[in-house]
Amino acid sequence: MRILGIDTSCDDTCISLLKFDSPLYQKWGLKFKILSNIVSSQVKLHAKYGGVWPFLAKREHQKNLPIVFKKAIKRIDQSEIDLIGVTIGPGLEPCLWQGINFAKDLAKKLKKPIIPVNHLEAHILINLLSSKFQEGEKMMNFFPAICLIVSGGHTVLFLMLDIGKYKLIGETRDDPAGECFDKVARILGLGYPGGPAIATLAHHRKNVLDQILPRLPRPMIYQKNYDFSFAGLKTAVLYDFRKRSEKIRKSRAYIHQMSKEIQQAIIDVLIYKTLRAAKEYRVKSIILGGGVAANDELRKQFKLACLRWKLKHLVPAKNLCTDNGVMVAVTAFFHKEEKINLPEIKADPNLKI
Ligand code: KG4
Ligand code: ZN
Repeated sequence: MRILGIDTSCDDTCISLLKFDSPLYQKWGLKFKILSNIVSSQVKLHAKYGGVWPFLAKREHQKNLPIVFKKAIKRIDQSEIDLIGVTIGPGLEPCLWQGINFAKDLAKKLKKPIIPVNHLEAHILINLLSSKFQEGEKMMNFFPAICLIVSGGHTVLFLMLDIGKYKLIGETRDDPAGECFDKVARILGLGYPGGPAIATLAHHRKNVLDQILPRLPRPMIYQKNYDFSFAGLKTAVLYDFRKRSEKIRKSRAYIHQMSKEIQQAIIDVLIYKTLRAAKEYRVKSIILGGGVAANDELRKQFKLACLRWKLKHLVPAKNLCTDNGVMVAVTAFFHKEEKINLPEIKADPNLKI
């Protein structure tokens, strides 16, 4: 079975082709093969604005979709596509519609079904491509699980009882963690997207100067709920930045130290609250997803924490943490029986898990 996955929820135009081989996936693990994974990034375009500009993104999707599609199906004939998965939300509404309309036109032309996909579920189900499952580990052994999605658009924590059975337990009350990375990077003059830039600088910290060592809060870390708040963290960076002299603000030492501190502040809150949820709900595993899960330090510290707490742990390959069509195709596979009539498929910018 060949599944096409389309995602245009934000600023990347993503189309992938995924092949699924074994009908025995529940018993023996999963046999997926990525035939193509094309992502046309609009980063350069949006960098000028320090964030995503929805109508500009929509126009780019419209332009890019046919080109990306052509590249994605290079190795097969269109008629060999069995199923089309498309993200219907959450995301930027004008962008979502571009992918949906493209998928509908294709479905009509090829006479193939479309499965509407929730972008958040897709960020988690991409973990089913882990080599653990390809080698035969059973996914049922990971449930119940606590899932954490950390991206530019979302920070959500939920309990996963099975594929398709989720219970939201916490989310951000203001900015998502990725947006916090992006906004802090803008304050420090590091460009967009901010996460990778901050991660690189945090890693190569040099010239530690005690007199400028910034100390940031860990917002809501000890509150007895599973919500997050990152807007105050960005404001704390801004206040610290403003009180420094011009010379310090521009120094490499300050930028390195601030990058390290903001990264650690975000990681501390994410790990502490996720592990507390894992303990309270007595789960077997922690599953991560979303662009921020590509952060090396976060991956390392989550792994250590899970080892310490004797929890299983799944995190996508780094290139599959950020938005992509593979995650949409995998999710469509698990919902393949839930076919819907084309007119009923609509964008839902605020779709929940
Ligand atoms: O999942 P994603 O591609 O898009 C959304 O659904 O939002 O996530 C993009 C976000 C951006 O905010 C970016 O700064 C962040 O993921 N990001 C990172 C890293 N790579 C991407 N944040 C921290 N460290 C990274 N290595
Ligand atoms: Zn995403």
